[in-house]
Amino acid sequence: MENLQVLILAAGKGTRMKSRKAKVLHQVGGSALIEHVFRAAQSISSRVLVVVGHQAERVKALLPDAEFVDQKQQLGTGHAVLSARETLRGFSGDLLVLPGDVPLIGGDTLEHFVQFHRDGGYAASVLTADIAEPFGYGRIIRRNDNEVDSIVEHRDASPDVLKIPEINSSIYVFKTPELFAALAHVGNKNSQSEYYLTDVVGILTSGNEKVGAYKTAAPVEILGINTRQELAAIDQFLRRQKCEALMSEGVTIVDPESTFIDVDVQVGPDTIIYPSVQLERGTVVGEDVTIRSFSRITSCRIGARSTVLEGCVLVSSKIGEDVYLGPFAHLRQDVTLGDNTRVGNFVEMKKSKLGAASKASHLAYVGDATVGKDVNIGAGVITANYDGTHKYETHIEDDAFIGTNSTLIAPVRVEKGAFVAAGSTITDDVPAEGLAIARGRQVVKEGRAPHRKKKA
Ligand code: UD1
Ligand code: CA
Repeated sequence: MENLQVLILAAGKGTRMKSRKAKVLHQVGGSALIEHVFRAAQSISSRVLVVVGHQAERVKALLPDAEFVDQKQQLGTGHAVLSARETLRGFSGDLLVLPGDVPLIGGDTLEHFVQFHRDGGYAASVLTADIAEPFGYGRIIRRNDNEVDSIVEHRDASPDVLKIPEINSSIYVFKTPELFAALAHVGNKNSQSEYYLTDVVGILTSGNEKVGAYKTAAPVEILGINTRQELAAIDQFLRRQKCEALMSEGVTIVDPESTFIDVDVQVGPDTIIYPSVQLERGTVVGEDVTIRSFSRITSCRIGARSTVLEGCVLVSSKIGEDVYLGPFAHLRQDVTLGDNTRVGNFVEMKKSKLGAASKASHLAYVGDATVGKDVNIGAGVITANYDGTHKYETHIEDDAFIGTNSTLIAPVRVEKGAFVAAGSTITDDVPAEGLAIARGRQVVKEGRAPHRKKKA
């Protein structure tokens, strides 16, 4: 929207979380609270300022597109806004103020709210909601159907005021000059000795300004998180909403209750997700994919018609089409699996590429390796990529065959069509079409078995 800037308050510690981590860094739906709020803010304004204080560096790192204002000491929400005075000097438009702990807030609601504020010509407006359990929230003292007189904090409220179900969401829009003029008069004589932003409302109305009250029809959007219980409740809400959305788009989710899918994950139609699957941050799953129980998939791409069997852990990897994974496969990071590949049980891969139609079906470790097409990696094959100090690369070219229980001591190359015999320890390159056998020859001593047994 034109002539609108946003200020998000995210400097507080969040004492009620009982955490060493700043509240806005806690996650729901796979993103930090502040990331959700920032996304909503960005959808309606091109300039978004964030007030940071507690663990400022970590908050900054999460928001590459934001501008920051430091609030060194956290003396209350009014004080937090005041710390942005210099940064906002010269701006005479509307300032939308959001708390950093309302992850469900939507861009549409904010847009309607700012429009209400502008249509009414108010000096300030407050987004409010009627909620069943208003405990802890500031209460709205109304003047009439459209206007508020003042806001009273729960801690400072009389029994009569506590009965009011209409609460302050802590989402406001202000005419910027009026806001800073009023803030200069806010004191800290209250139960917490804090400078309350809520006091600006009373100051404006006493000065004959009008403050709008916009009651949202979607109270769920303004739910703030102050405790671990609220964190869990909103996380559950977001997960349910995500499953509902995907089901509407043609994804089968066998048990939505036990399926955790982060808000930014994409899943193609006709994919089937079995119970107790986690699809995390940045994952994109194609069409007609099957994902079996107890698999966790983080920041991966999975191509169409692939199958992930039970118990796989897949992280930051790219999986082609018609791939067969698991059960119990582990792609640790930066793995690329070509189309029609197979990575079976108890295979771990890291920073490696597997060309189309290649297989590592059982019990292998493949790290820092580039594997070509149509390669067979036998059971128990290990790429020995680490000498205790450095990591080295293994190259296995197209059509090669690595026999069971072989160790490839990197750096080493097995060329096109070569064959490594089972049980070999390969220290030198194997030329194209060559056969490498690198193991001790078998010795058989006739009739000696009974003698050995007697001795034991
Ligand atoms: C605030 C409102 C209350 C409202 C509720 C809605 C005040 C005084 N009260 O209370 O009326 O019903 O939100 O959720 O405003 N913050 C700073 N710097 C500070 C203090 C806070 O940046 O010095 C930030 C916090 O990080 C947080 C936001 O402001 O993101 C709100 O602070 P919080 O302590 O959660 O306010 P509430 O007590 O919930
Ligand atoms: Ca709060």
